[in-house]
Amino acid sequence: MRAQAAYTLAAPPAQRKLNQNESPFDFPPELKQEVLERVAARPWQRYPEFAPPELLARLAAHYGWVADGILVGNGSNELIQSTLAVVLGAGDRVVAAAPTFSLYRLLTAVLGGRYVPVPLGSGFTFDVDGLIDAARLESARVIVLNSPNNPTGSALPEDAVERILSHTDALVICDEAYQDFGGPSAIPLLARWSRLVVLRTFSKALGLAGLRFGLALAHPAVAREIAKGKLPYNVNLMTLAAARTALDHAPLLAARTREIVEIRDRFLARLRKVPGLTVFPTAANFVLIRTVSLSAKDLCRRLLDDYGILIRDVSDSAQLSECVRISIGTAEDMDAVIDALHEIVLGPGQHQAADLRR
Ligand SMILES: Cc1ncc(COP(=O)(O)O)c(C=O)c1O
Repeated sequence: MRAQAAYTLAAPPAQRKLNQNESPFDFPPELKQEVLERVAARPWQRYPEFAPPELLARLAAHYGWVADGILVGNGSNELIQSTLAVVLGAGDRVVAAAPTFSLYRLLTAVLGGRYVPVPLGSGFTFDVDGLIDAARLESARVIVLNSPNNPTGSALPEDAVERILSHTDALVICDEAYQDFGGPSAIPLLARWSRLVVLRTFSKALGLAGLRFGLALAHPAVAREIAKGKLPYNVNLMTLAAARTALDHAPLLAARTREIVEIRDRFLARLRKVPGLTVFPTAANFVLIRTVSLSAKDLCRRLLDDYGILIRDVSDSAQLSECVRISIGTAEDMDAVIDALHEIVLGPGQHQAADLRR
């Protein structure tokens, strides 16, 4: 464990916070009020229910799966941990596309498993055959697929999950933290495959990162086993109430997701016109870019120091050399990023931001 780095993040204050793939929109005030009223009506000296049947039924209807195949968690992070905890024994292999969300590598190490990264292909597309080959060669216990993938934004091709399930014996975890923003979902496969666990979160599109709510969807028999790796009372009253409220107002929150997708697509078109950057395709609420004319470190520092824009430097591996990740914020945030990038690349006064914004 001493060789592992803890999952943490330096978060300097910034006017425009585009480093954690959060929603730029706060939960609407009237919905917050609804949550508070719901919570105020509950006895606070009592433990919350383990898994409120009404909430499970609502989640089942929303995601199109059965209620007894759903587990709720204190963020989807917790369900990553519980799932790995009940499957991994000492030395068991976890195959994952690389780079991906770093928690998988860390938790595999904590649980005594062995992490087998399979590099993404050119342009950071998934190497589906490479994942299958590695899983077979290593007799993988678990395969991790994060689609759209953090930090690259790449989405799996439509038939990939089924192909991976049918050519391997592993439990396949599909982490769909960003699926609300694009790419296919593996949820329809749950009816046919019991070796599949799909993870979803309310932290991104639904704008509830601060309250911590996520869910796992799996065959009921698998869900029953994963439940043994969870702590009791893992989701508190406030979070349960917020999840209910979010589901009650799903159409309103979905409209915000569509707005973020529109902002993203407009931003991408303008970003591709900035000289000296490679922009990778994304289906998520963030975009990965590689800088050519200056280092990722310098770009992040200049954006923060001179423009108050905080993005994520992800350039700490050879695969992601000189890469940064920018979360999609409001339209004004993204205008500010485009203007700042032009000034940084071309020098102050040289940019034609007004033209390039169009
Ligand atoms: C791929 C992926 N999975 C899960 C999470 C965590 O989600 P939650 O807030 O539900 O724990 C993140 C957060 O950044 C993520 O990028």
